Amino acid sequence: MGDGVSGEHRFIVVLCHHGDMPLSRPEHGARSLIPELTPFITPMLQNHIPHQRTVTSEDLTRARQSMEPLQEAIQTWRTKLEGDCTVVAWMSDLHLHAPRSYGGDIGFYGNQVDCSFNFRLALAELATLAPLPDLLVFGGDVADFGCGCEAPTDEYAEFGRILREALPPGLPTLAISGNHDHGVPTTAAWHETWHSLAPHAWPRSPDADDYYFASQYGGWRIIGLDTREDGPLSDRQRQWLTQELARDAVTPTLVLIHRPFVRVGNWVDDIRLFDRATYDVLDASSAVKAIWSGHTHKAGGWRYRGKKHVVFPSLAYGIPGPCGWGVGMFSRNQLEAVFIKTISAPWYDGVAFKFRQSKRQVQRLPFSDYSTSPLFHPNLLPRDPR
Ligand SMILES: [Fe+2]
Ligand SMILES: [Fe+2]
Repeated sequence: MGDGVSGEHRFIVVLCHHGDMPLSRPEHGARSLIPELTPFITPMLQNHIPHQRTVTSEDLTRARQSMEPLQEAIQTWRTKLEGDCTVVAWMSDLHLHAPRSYGGDIGFYGNQVDCSFNFRLALAELATLAPLPDLLVFGGDVADFGCGCEAPTDEYAEFGRILREALPPGLPTLAISGNHDHGVPTTAAWHETWHSLAPHAWPRSPDADDYYFASQYGGWRIIGLDTREDGPLSDRQRQWLTQELARDAVTPTLVLIHRPFVRVGNWVDDIRLFDRATYDVLDASSAVKAIWSGHTHKAGGWRYRGKKHVVFPSLAYGIPGPCGWGVGMFSRNQLEAVFIKTISAPWYDGVAFKFRQSKRQVQRLPFSDYSTSPLFHPNLLPRDPR
């Protein structure tokens, strides 16, 4: 290669050929691929098309078996709460690809992970719960190639197709968007596509520039917010949130917000939500009991200033992992317990760049005190008065 290609470039091409190296930072999507390397890397990629594997009867058997501890845990809590509870499931960071060639420009996990299979498997696992949860929330990063722009419509079509084929019938859903889903501001076409995917009507946003809403389920108010690709919430969204929390200052409230305020201890912490003004609005409301997020591809649970912050894992790949989804048990006015379900198939560790399999597939999420944790930053968020 005596043609101006440096020794460093040659070294990187060889590593990529063996699939041992990321081509881009996952949260930034494949467009952050170092541009000058693209001509050398692209021809070396072996698999440009997502695998799109189907869920087999063996997968289903494993899925069913893996769900027994969760079925039991939920039943125990239902009994404890004498049936007076709301059960909410969460799936996020699906990072779905369309079933087509991406011409090699698909990012390191896209060339390794069948994101559609993981999502189908998670829905198959959830479908074994009897009774089903009261609600399933999709927590953003549904699509993959929507960083700083609108995700391709065929990635959304893939989401819609899987919902039609694998969502348990009659299960209500809500969805918020993530930093891989849309540009800023959202377009009318994006809203149209988004709502066309819903198996039943999702709430309309009061604002054409973002997607946010307030909804009611089983005595709980659910507020969905839009954290866009980066930066704080728009002033208009924050104003709406302030008014909504003032309009009803009593009903226990779960807030869904893709990028978390809190840290979990990986590099995605650096691109979490830095928005003290919005944090203060939520902090001031005693109605807000829990704040649920995804985005970090690593689970975490914190008790902080009278609220529970939950960060759920990703269904696509972990940083480092494991991959999975979650279920929350709500009493009349508290989030009582959260369980994390690791998928019953090998999952991709996006730090070690290899697949792993978890033996223990259901875990009750522990909640530690955030403001006494070494991850807490007192210059960014207030200390807990306790
Ligand atoms: Fe994500
Ligand atoms: Fe994200």
